[in-house]
Parts: sequence; C-alpha cells; structure tokens
Amino acid sequence: MADTVLSTNALPTTAGLDVAAIRRDFPILSTVNRLGKPLVYLDSAATSLKPLPVIEAVDAYNREYSSNIHRGIYEIAEKATGLYEAARASVAKLINAPEPNEIVFVRNATEAINLVANTWGRKHIGRGDTIVLTEMEHHANLVPWQLLVQEKDGDLEFVPITDDGVLMLDVYEALLHLRPKLVAFTHMSNMLGTINPVRELTEMAHAAGALVLIDGAQAAPHMPVDVQEIGADFYAFSGHKMLAPTGSGALWARRSLLEAMPPFMAGGDMIREVHLRRSEWNEIPWKFEAGTPDISAEIGLGAAAEYLMKIGMDNVRAHEHAMAAYALEKLREIPGIELYGPSADQRGGVVAFNLPGIHPHDVAQILDRSGICVRAGHHCTMPLHERFDISATARASFNVYSIPEEVDALTAGLREVVRIFAV
Ligand code: ALA
Repeated sequence: MADTVLSTNALPTTAGLDVAAIRRDFPILSTVNRLGKPLVYLDSAATSLKPLPVIEAVDAYNREYSSNIHRGIYEIAEKATGLYEAARASVAKLINAPEPNEIVFVRNATEAINLVANTWGRKHIGRGDTIVLTEMEHHANLVPWQLLVQEKDGDLEFVPITDDGVLMLDVYEALLHLRPKLVAFTHMSNMLGTINPVRELTEMAHAAGALVLIDGAQAAPHMPVDVQEIGADFYAFSGHKMLAPTGSGALWARRSLLEAMPPFMAGGDMIREVHLRRSEWNEIPWKFEAGTPDISAEIGLGAAAEYLMKIGMDNVRAHEHAMAAYALEKLREIPGIELYGPSADQRGGVVAFNLPGIHPHDVAQILDRSGICVRAGHHCTMPLHERFDISATARASFNVYSIPEEVDALTAGLREVVRIFAV
C-alpha cells in the first residue's frame, strides 16, 4: 500500500509563494518508489525537477512542429525558429541581459565555461599570465582553466576559504596585485551553499584590470540575477538545474567580447559564407552555435525562465532561504552531525553534512529506502573536500518546490541511519 504523497497543509508559506500549487505543477512529486514511499527529492543542486509548462513545451515541439531552425521556409520550421529565439529573449530577461543576442545557447554551464576558455582564453592568456579562481569551484570552473594554463604556460592562483566556507577577501585583494587577466568564481557554492559577494568581487577584479567570469550554475535558478548590476563579463549557467531539460544552458557575455572572440565549434549555422579554403562567421550569438542545437531543450529553458519569472525570483530566494534555515536548525539536533558552510543568511538552499563514522554513500543508500534522494560523494568539488580534509559528504539541496516536511523526513531518516549503525 502506497504512503500518501507528502501533505503540504502544514506548510508555513513564504509570503507571495503558494508552494502547494507549485508542487502540483511537478508530476514526479506524485510518484512513489518501489516500496510505495513518496518521493522526497533533496538533490536539486544536481538537477532540478521539471514542471508541466516545461514538459509540455518540449512535448509540443516533438508532436506539433518538429523541424530544424534557421533553415526551413515553411510554417512549422518558422514556428520552431520563432520559439527558439523567443526562448533566448526569455533567458535574457531572466538575468537582465542588455539584449537577447548576448545569450549563447549551450548544453550546460560546463560547456559555457569551456567555450570561454577555448576562445577568449586561448586568444588572451599567454606565458606567465595569471588566472585567479577560488578553492570552492566545482570541476567545471577549474579543469578548463587547468588545461588552458598547461597549454599556455600560465598560472592559476586560488582564493582560500575560511572554516565557515567564506572567501578570504583580504587574500583575494592580495592576489589581485598579481594583475591577473581573468578572475573566475562561483556565484554560489554547490557544496557549502555560500553565496559570494559577486558585485564586490567583480568591482575589485575590474579595478585590477581583470575580466570576470561567474559560474552561475547554482545561482541563476535560485535568486534574482542581474548581470548588468553585477557588472561581470561572462555569466554561465545550466538549464537542467533551473527546471529546464538536460542539454539546455546559456552563456551570457558582453556583445563586444562575443564579437571579438573566435568561434568555438565549427560547422553549419555558425557561418555567413563558406568557400573551399575559407569561411566567414555568422553574427553573434549564432557564431557560437554550430550545428543543429538541442532545439526542444532550449525552448524548454525559455518556458522554465518564464515559469520562474512568474513566481518571482525574490520569492524563490526567500523560500529557499527559509528552507536552508529550517534544515540547519533541524539537522543540528542530530548528535555528532558535522555541517559545512556558513549561516543561512549567507547560503542558498544547500546543506552538506557528515554523520560521524558513517560513509555518506551508506547514508544515501539507507535514506533511499524511505524515498529520500540526497547526493553523496564529492559533488564535483574534490579540492574543496580536500580543504576540509574529507573525501565525501552527503548533501541535501532545495528548490522552489521543496517543503519543510521533506526536511522532517530527512531528519527522521538520519536518526534511523544512526540507529542502524549503532547496533
Ligand atoms: N555539480 C552538480 C552538483 O552539484 C552536478 O551535484
């Protein structure tokens, strides 16, 4: 007999946010696992669930107007092109980009960062040049820069973090005296949850003559992002973490930078003219979108951006702040638990933890029996785990559809884990 789907009746609603109604938009939240337990999805930092407007947008493309973009002179192809470009406009609006054509569609934040490293990076980073990163980067904002400086004989420097998981700004300031060409940092840590002071970091980098790339994979889905107000030069994010399909994502960059950057991938659609021995490139952003893209996924990303804007990113942030505060409070009640990262006011909806003497994989496996999904491992941040002298953590992460009852289920599940390991 299946347990009933988690009730939201007792939910202390965040002002302006009807979480019970939002949950009804996510069909997967009505499912149960092999043991009849309702889904308690606490792994949104790995990938988010998808709401009906996104599912339906992708479905409509496949059922009603499946055709290629920028090529067909017939009704359904024109519709596909129109909706693909409308999705670009929605994404631009979500992050207040000055113009839609500064949004390059990519598969994910990883591809966006690789694009910058391989185009701007290979053109501008040379022997002895420094790139400043932080100790809290996930691999997508670390390994592409390692490859670049290995090829160009450049240097990487890292802003260290405190035991509370906050960047040491005095060391950052000192590193800027090295006159780096680029500073790249995450907007929000996927393990610590730390929300970095991106505007201040950007201003400091610019004053030192560096360009700034922000990895927004964990921020764009969860808080208001205004790239003009932040003032950075590149902003990268994935669609699949922000209610959109896998295979969707975006890189925002200033028009002047995109125009001066060489192409990344080469092939169809990114060209204006091709001759046997030379070619000319298309306008931005299409110069960076070689071949047939993941059309339905990017249309789904547009639907996700519209869905989030309708809810209001301030409301999303307020809800997830409340969820993180509640989770920290409840998890602290578990004897011996180790929690990582700063206070709720400085973090997004991510809480990484360890139970003494119990491997996070065992924790996740036992929780799974109760339908509770958490991530266990290094979360693509091995150097950050090394910084805390640990090899792995378990991590609960939230989204706009998360409810306090799920934190209660997690806490009860962890007490059960402790009980099993005590015998
Ligand atoms: N970087 C993603 C995560 O944090 C995959 O889980």
